[in-house]
Amino acid sequence: MDRRAEARVNLAAIERNAARIAAGLTGGAALCAVVKGDGYGHGAVPAARAALAGGATWLAVATAQEAVELREAGLTDARVLVLGALTPAELGAALDAGADVVAWREAFVAGIGRPAGVHVKLDTGMGRLGTRDAKEATRVADAVASAPHLELAGAMTHFATADEPGDDFMPAQLERFAAWAAALRARHPDVLLHAANSAATLRDPASHFGLVRAGIALYGLDPFQGDPAAHGLEPALELRSYVAEVKRCAAGQSAGYGRRFVADAPTVLATVPIGYGDGVRRALTNNADVLVGGRRRPLRGAVSMDNVTLDLGPDGGGVRRGDDAVLIGAQDGERVTAEEWARRLDTINYEITCGLSRRVPRAYHRDGAPGG
Ligand SMILES: Cc1ncc(COP(=O)(O)O)c(C=O)c1O
Repeated sequence: MDRRAEARVNLAAIERNAARIAAGLTGGAALCAVVKGDGYGHGAVPAARAALAGGATWLAVATAQEAVELREAGLTDARVLVLGALTPAELGAALDAGADVVAWREAFVAGIGRPAGVHVKLDTGMGRLGTRDAKEATRVADAVASAPHLELAGAMTHFATADEPGDDFMPAQLERFAAWAAALRARHPDVLLHAANSAATLRDPASHFGLVRAGIALYGLDPFQGDPAAHGLEPALELRSYVAEVKRCAAGQSAGYGRRFVADAPTVLATVPIGYGDGVRRALTNNADVLVGGRRRPLRGAVSMDNVTLDLGPDGGGVRRGDDAVLIGAQDGERVTAEEWARRLDTINYEITCGLSRRVPRAYHRDGAPGG
């Protein structure tokens, strides 16, 4: 390590994940790579490029600014869809970027004064954006189709429980969407239908329609919070730091704020200079393992903003200053996953990688070879 901490992102893994997802699509469905939230913390622009190389043909973001960022980085060919709600000023920015937008109210459509692709959203049960009223959604679609400067590009919905296999809510949402979409298709035969996120894509081919919007799976993270390998997905991100200090700790001595760890017997501690300022959440206090020398070392004491301490045991376990420390990723066959952190933190893997802060430089490579 020549720096304090870094997130190593394997773009070849993102490319392969995209290719695997695309290969599993039915009926000629296309892949839209969801790169919002700075590519779920991986870096939106490099992730988008890798996903496109793997076979994605659309990109999706949540905000107008995210669309602008893709365009400014030179991603000018792929169609970009802004999924989120837009203020009038943000709508202008999205249109300037040549992005498609989502609509579900006629008044919003009336405010789109320039050429744009528009996707009409039916809320089949997510209860966030979109209209729950299928008749209103159809009226909005008709309004888009009859405006000469607008293209009725898509008709869409979003699932609330696709990541809960066996539930009966996703099938009910799917049925509702399919019925509305079939009627809409009779009026507008070219409209592109899309509904599936990663979990739905993996769970039910009937959700694929013309396009799937996959985010989490692209990054090799499991939408079901289990083992990504079970779906042929490869985690693309590793979070690494190094051992900056090794010191003896006598019985009764402590480590970190609040003395949340007090040694009950002599041991050796390692200090690793990464903390909650980087996205190593404070709730991992006394509740994580970090890989050093190919073994799990328990994190002991409070996570500070800039440091964590590890317990190496009474003989120090052969660890020396300068050794690599892997917080998320693999070392000598041992592995800590974002899904493991999520379980410990009672959250989901999405929040783990999105939560890595700007202070952590992203280092791009392709299967270990430098490059981005
Ligand atoms: C509307 C919409 N579609 C698709 C996605 C991608 O979801 P996932 O990352 O679970 O594949 C998201 C992300 O949450 C979303 O908000």
